[in-house]
Amino acid sequence: MLNKFINTLKSLLFINRYKMNINSRLKLIQSNIDNLEADLSSKLDITPRFSEDLTIQNICESITRLNSKIKDIEFILANVLNMVSLINPEAIGFNSQNHRKKIFKELTAAINFENIIETGTFLGDTTYWISQHSKLPIYTTETNNIYYCISKKRFLILNNQKLFISNLDSRKFLKQIFDANNILNRKVLIYLDSHWDQDLPLLDEINFICAKSVEFVVMIDDFKVPFDEGYGFDDYGGMNVFNLEYIKDCIIKFGLSVFFPALHSSSETGAKRGCVVLTNNPKFEQIILKKVPSLKKNF
Ligand SMILES: C[S@@+](CC[C@H](N)C(=O)[O-])C[C@H]1O[C@@H](n2cnc3c(N)ncnc32)[C@H](O)[C@@H]1O
Repeated sequence: MLNKFINTLKSLLFINRYKMNINSRLKLIQSNIDNLEADLSSKLDITPRFSEDLTIQNICESITRLNSKIKDIEFILANVLNMVSLINPEAIGFNSQNHRKKIFKELTAAINFENIIETGTFLGDTTYWISQHSKLPIYTTETNNIYYCISKKRFLILNNQKLFISNLDSRKFLKQIFDANNILNRKVLIYLDSHWDQDLPLLDEINFICAKSVEFVVMIDDFKVPFDEGYGFDDYGGMNVFNLEYIKDCIIKFGLSVFFPALHSSSETGAKRGCVVLTNNPKFEQIILKKVPSLKKNF
């Protein structure tokens, strides 16, 4: 419907170029865009930025902006309609990576964790998968309002009393749950996946967790796996590449043990994103070495 509207605007701009007085056409377009933007603004918090300069370029930019918002809406709607209860739970979560799920299963079977924490909920696919494979309390956070609302709605269907979602920045969230939920002195499995934009909370997250007296295993998504180019990883430019160099100071400062997937990327499924697993606990390190064959230690 909205796409149709945009297409109509585009054709007004480009096809009927010579059939209508340019000023009336631009005014008509302006008023249509104003209406549409105002309507979308109220629903999606888009501030209208199109008012004084009535030029073809501005109108085109406005249309492009609206088109990209419409794509977002369509994507979100598709995900909302694809309700969690209808999804085959084995097909989603952890980037649809079977080996990554195996790592998670082996870790939770080998170590008696008391809590699971995720940063970066997105649409809740991994949170959902974890909730199906663990009876533990799960805490997750998402800053994007729309993703947060969708996930919250999806989680309602699960009626899982142990699943808690927050709308906080991961750094504030970690501080809050560590303080409020008595996480200190507990065994926690933490999935750090709140990286997406230029503001990268990863180092703050690791430093915060390491400074607390918790016994943890941390899994970081989108991390470069040494000697296996087939696993994808995040590269935000400059020094901001998710590789061992990026977290080197934390590893040294807190004496962390480092593990990578034992499986070659060619046999992994789904998005084949790399990951790293860290622990500060020598007991956990030994358990992983003995009971988690899906991981190999980085020496
Ligand atoms: C890679 S996605 C997470 C995917 C999700 N864990 C999954 O497995 O389906 C990253 C998400 O983190 C969110 N995000 C980015 N920065 C954040 C922050 N500082 N705190 C919390 N969430 C953040 C983004 O909005 C995005 O939805």
